[in-house]
Amino acid sequence: MDGLSPLSKVTEGDLDVEAVQAALSDRVIGRRILHFDLVGSTMDEARRSAEKGEREGTVFIAEEQTDGRGRFHRSWVSPRGENLSLSVLLRPAAAHLPSMNMAATLAVSGSITEASGLPSAIKWPNDVRVRGRKVSGILVETVMEAGRVDHAVVGIGVNVNFDPSSFPEIASTATSLRVETGRQVDRGRLLRTLLERFDSLYGRVRAGHSLVEEWAAGMDTLGRRVQVAWRGQVVEGVAESVDEQGNLMVRRADGSVFTAVAGEVTLQV
Ligand code: BTN
Repeated sequence: MDGLSPLSKVTEGDLDVEAVQAALSDRVIGRRILHFDLVGSTMDEARRSAEKGEREGTVFIAEEQTDGRGRFHRSWVSPRGENLSLSVLLRPAAAHLPSMNMAATLAVSGSITEASGLPSAIKWPNDVRVRGRKVSGILVETVMEAGRVDHAVVGIGVNVNFDPSSFPEIASTATSLRVETGRQVDRGRLLRTLLERFDSLYGRVRAGHSLVEEWAAGMDTLGRRVQVAWRGQVVEGVAESVDEQGNLMVRRADGSVFTAVAGEVTLQV
């Protein structure tokens, strides 16, 4: 899929990417947005550009992905022109890496509520849900070089206007903003507020602030019984709190605490 050039001046339905980019010209995230018609995965477009020296903050957004991916090598369903499928290229300090997922999930959750009026909650570590069903997933891929972060690509998929009931593999677990509101949701407005929020949160992380308190408050996982699959075992307990890195502390029945590290576990709540 290398060599495909971004759409230069495209307004695809409700998505006027040029207008969003203009509104974000004084930000880091979104000051440059590359809008693609069809790609394998925006994760790969971002990584290839990062390797060629693209500066941080650039957003890669596609109308359609042929090989969209989620965590644990799952595929990510996103039919053409209906949802938001994007990746943001960042070059954070190593100490700020654990905050990238927190900043992105908080930005997505807040922007969904702002653009649609729906209440949304974060399911640890990287899902955003509306009324208990998944409406967005976040995937962070990091490239280290000689012990330092070369770049991180933060992938965000939001189910905006599609109907998940036509996809049997996700029909029972996923929803979309259109399904939940009963009306078409403006992708351009959602994209703009999402990137604005992500930029503000990223700015706070770079200034040394912690997002853990907000993140814990935005989650619907804490206080609930969970099952954590980890290295072939299943740990059961109550999700008690999150630590400074965003890891989930699970209290087992025998009183011991298991620390679930994002990226290494799947969670059933
Ligand atoms: C997950 O829930 O496991 C994460 C899903 C992340 C999907 C997005 S869509 C845009 C970007 N490109 C991809 O291939 N994946 C992410």
